[in-house]
Amino acid sequence: MKNIIPQDYHISRNDRASSKKHQSLVVWFTGLSGSGKSTLASLVENELYKRKIHTYSLDGDNIRGGINKGLGFSASDREENLRRIAEVARLFVDAGVLVIGAFISPLEEDRNKVKNIIGKDDFIEIFVDTSVEECEKRDVKGLYKKARAGEIKNFTGISAPYERPCNPDIIIKTESSSIEESINKVINYILPRIELS
Ligand code: PPS
Repeated sequence: MKNIIPQDYHISRNDRASSKKHQSLVVWFTGLSGSGKSTLASLVENELYKRKIHTYSLDGDNIRGGINKGLGFSASDREENLRRIAEVARLFVDAGVLVIGAFISPLEEDRNKVKNIIGKDDFIEIFVDTSVEECEKRDVKGLYKKARAGEIKNFTGISAPYERPCNPDIIIKTESSSIEESINKVINYILPRIELS
């Protein structure tokens, strides 16, 4: 970058971790629309909050109304959506916060880019593995109905792809596990990773 000289800061990430008494991290939920990723993400955040972990949630619909306003659902808009979110998440991690992200993030290549921006040691990928049939049956927001009627183009799982993660850290099967089991699985995975050494 020409004529851009990054500024060094006096307070390091370790300093921030010590004052918060935990490490920072990104916990990234991927899955189809209606898979349950936002619900799970929000319940996991509640559990962490109760344990005095400094968390912050980033979620598809909310981010798209703000910094990513104007981006749609073409492959290139989704890529840019996720790139910006990854940059924001990286800042939060530097600030000592445990970030909870819930985004469809349908392509392996884009998820890998997110992981590279954040840094692989700071990134936990959770695949909320709910079948498209089940998501369509639930159709909480009525979007599958609209997608089937052709009112929404490029709808993930119907007219746009969703690639299952190749190597997620955790897989949650909402069709066969209780919500409590799923929350515990995630919490038990996260807590040892944010302990101060
Ligand atoms: S992506 O693919 O990661 O960039 O998507 P994301 O930012 O997570 O946004 C997903 C939410 O957008 C709504 N929505 C759609 N989803 C998928 N495909 C299309 N075409 C679409 N249009 C709107 C939908 O409410 C998604 O929210 P969730 O929570 O996943 O249901």
